[in-house]
Amino acid sequence: MSLQSYALFLRAFAANPKSVGALFPSAPALAYGMTKHLTFFPHDHVVELGPGTGSFTRYILAKLASPKQYLGVELNPKFTQELKQQFPYAEFACGQAEQLETILKLHQRPMIDHLISGLPFASLPKEVTTQIVEAVADATTTKATFTTFQYLHAYQFKNAKEFRAQMEEKFGPLIRVRWVLFNMFPAAVLTWQKKPSLTTLEL
Ligand SMILES: C[S@@+](CC[C@H](N)C(=O)[O-])C[C@H]1O[C@@H](n2cnc3c(N)ncnc32)[C@H](O)[C@@H]1O
Repeated sequence: MSLQSYALFLRAFAANPKSVGALFPSAPALAYGMTKHLTFFPHDHVVELGPGTGSFTRYILAKLASPKQYLGVELNPKFTQELKQQFPYAEFACGQAEQLETILKLHQRPMIDHLISGLPFASLPKEVTTQIVEAVADATTTKATFTTFQYLHAYQFKNAKEFRAQMEEKFGPLIRVRWVLFNMFPAAVLTWQKKPSLTTLEL
């Protein structure tokens, strides 16, 4: 990551700490941990929520047969601009994850097979999390996966626990939890799948 990109991330955190939710973009170890277990087939539609400055994006795109399978949804217009420059062959929507259905329609995209989220659910207001979880449940196919991370120090925060409970209600129990220590800060990678199928996930 360039110094310029990191400065952009820091400024965004200073302006809106709860929305950015982290002082540092995720490390390559976490980006690898967020994607290594997912199998993307050439017809799969993959959406990333909160790509920020693109830490996970390059790992996701590297696993896809075509960048046309990917859509990034980022709230911050400056991050979106930076993402478009960094990955000119991929599509990004500047908008709220809560508006997922409208965003998919605008971009003429089908239901989602895999969602990868960098959203800071431990610091987002509860009503925003509820809207996002509902939007995600409605916009995903019947066997869709949802992968996100939560920092070790925030894992037992009320908002983090409530988010996990809401996901469980919509997707069923967590099917995979892996800890990544080489990240600032150590984090758990969490995956849900609506109807678990070993063909889309390597445990
Ligand atoms: C913790 S940063 C993660 C960035 C990147 N994925 C990483 O791990 O380095 C959270 C990102 O979520 C974005 N975000 C926060 N709320 C959002 C929302 N409601 N819809 C879309 N993006 C949102 C922020 O702008 C920020 O880029």
